[in-house]
Amino acid sequence: MSASVPAEAAIHLPVRAAEESVLYSEASTRDYSRCRTPDRPAPGTVFHVKPLKRSARRSLLVAHVAVSVGWLGLTVGLLALAITAFSTADPATARAATRAMKVFGDWLIVPVALFSLFSGLVLALGTPWGLARHRWVWTKFWLTLITVALSVFSLRPGIDEAATRGTVDADLVVAPSVATAAYLFITAISVLKPWGPTRRSHRLRRSAGAGKGLDERTPRRTA
Ligand code: HEM
Repeated sequence: MSASVPAEAAIHLPVRAAEESVLYSEASTRDYSRCRTPDRPAPGTVFHVKPLKRSARRSLLVAHVAVSVGWLGLTVGLLALAITAFSTADPATARAATRAMKVFGDWLIVPVALFSLFSGLVLALGTPWGLARHRWVWTKFWLTLITVALSVFSLRPGIDEAATRGTVDADLVVAPSVATAAYLFITAISVLKPWGPTRRSHRLRRSAGAGKGLDERTPRRTA
């Protein structure tokens, strides 16, 4: 799904749309390679790290998407088990469901959450997307940071307690419901990449005069 605008048409775009197009064309997965990457960090870059090579970027992107969307699936699984334990009248079923939740909690939640966060960080900092250059990345970063903290410090201990008791209270149904909604939202903004560059990125681009001629390729988004 790539939106491309002919070079002549881009001249007539409003300033903001043209600036966004330049940013998206820099960020395209298809054209990206080290030899085309500007030497100096782009305006709006908070931390400058060595750009990822094309093959490394692609491999990491596959791993990032697989694990991050896997995290969404894991949370839906937890929600199904929590609803089962919460609604059943059979204590043996509730115990079995809470034990299964503990297996997810002990083995998967923390490593999956941390891998999603760190692979996302490396992709953001090692590619022209940047961490604070585009609103969709910045929003994902904060939402993920909050949900990772809640998973480690609240959800996991909650699951341990439920497994010890063999029952689930309403909190343990609400937590994976909210988390599922958050990960669905994060997945949607990852694919759609809405809202364009951050205000800070706009300001820095304008003051650096970088909008002109930094990238004259056909504007192209990754999604
Ligand atoms: C629940 C957490 C997350 C989910 C479900 C998720 C999902 C995704 C998906 C589906 C894509 C592929 C989009 C596409 O190419 O069309 C993607 C790419 C990306 N994600 Fe995440 N992500 C998560 C966390 C993060 C975090 C925390 C960051 C940054 C701090 C991040 C930064 C990025 C970047 C920069 C890309 C584009 C990489 C590239 O084109 O090379 N993600 N993510």
